[in-house]
Amino acid sequence: MFLTLGIETSCDDTSVSVVEGLSDVRSLVISSQIKTHAPYGGIIPELAARDHLKNITWVLDKALKEADIKNPERQLSLIAVTCGPGLMGSLLVGVMFAKGLSQVWEKPLIGVNHIEGHVYSLFLTEANDIDFPFLCLVISGGHTDLLIVMAPGSYKVLGSTRDDAIGEAFDKVAKLLDLGYPGGPIIDKLSKKGDENAFNFPVPLIDDEGFDFSFSGLKTAVSLQVKELKKRYGKLTDDVKADICAAFQKAAISELLIKVKRAVSSTGITKVGICGGVSANSYLRQKIKELRNIKVFFPPLKYCTDNAAMVASAGYMRYSMGEISPISLTPDPALLL
Ligand code: KG4
Ligand code: ZN
Repeated sequence: MFLTLGIETSCDDTSVSVVEGLSDVRSLVISSQIKTHAPYGGIIPELAARDHLKNITWVLDKALKEADIKNPERQLSLIAVTCGPGLMGSLLVGVMFAKGLSQVWEKPLIGVNHIEGHVYSLFLTEANDIDFPFLCLVISGGHTDLLIVMAPGSYKVLGSTRDDAIGEAFDKVAKLLDLGYPGGPIIDKLSKKGDENAFNFPVPLIDDEGFDFSFSGLKTAVSLQVKELKKRYGKLTDDVKADICAAFQKAAISELLIKVKRAVSSTGITKVGICGGVSANSYLRQKIKELRNIKVFFPPLKYCTDNAAMVASAGYMRYSMGEISPISLTPDPALLL
């Protein structure tokens, strides 16, 4: 039995998981920092690092207990940790902790790219059904990437965001409307009560031939609309907020759908994996099913946002291919795939 201990601290979730092989999640513990950052409407890096430091030990203890690991030195096979991209202070906590465990328990260490981690969240349940190559859309608070996954560990980046990540745009629009943090799930829910055609926000880069994304223009369009409405009517009603959310969500998700359709027709690859926090979005899940000749797969909701099970899975894949990280492993906040 090959058990990997996964550790994820790249942003604002402290998570530890034990995964058997590529996809059998034996335990997953996530300590969210939403309460710490909510008053600021976004993540404060210094506070994130401090929370990771405070929580990582009990999160590890709980993950080992839930996986019934009484003797980690004997039972664990590998330690996998996110080493980038992400916030430097946050990454440092996880990487240093993993290095300490690797030394004390005499286990091999593997550094994992966080984006590859999200790709491997798709393998946590669908491992047997996924064959290569497939297209992959990684959409989260920090990333918006469209990839071809050629083979395990081999990627071709078709396009990325030129400015904000899509999740960041959801969070910023929610902040503009005083809806709370993180904005994605709130906008997703509120949009169901709104009229997506009440406002006509621009679909970003609609005429661009490539696969890149952009969300800052859309965010500015929403901000200008909000200002104008406030000037005219004073406070925004809940109904107006719901309409703005629905119209914003329609424009942002349309951009994803257009690029996925274009990637399918230009590559001929019809299998599309969608992962990362924004892949939890219910409007996206519904709309993408309407595209013809595409087989779409998502991780279950619990593996969409940051978690250590995906890191363990990606680490296992890398280790199986003969890779190992030196004990001098250092985090890289701008690590590329
Ligand atoms: O993958 P993740 O946990 O962290 C990063 O790697 O960034 O993604 C977090 C992002 C946040 O921006 C959050 O607002 C967004 O995912 N998100 C959603 C939904 N659930 C989470 N966005 C849209 N709809 C959702 N249902
Ligand atoms: Zn992430």
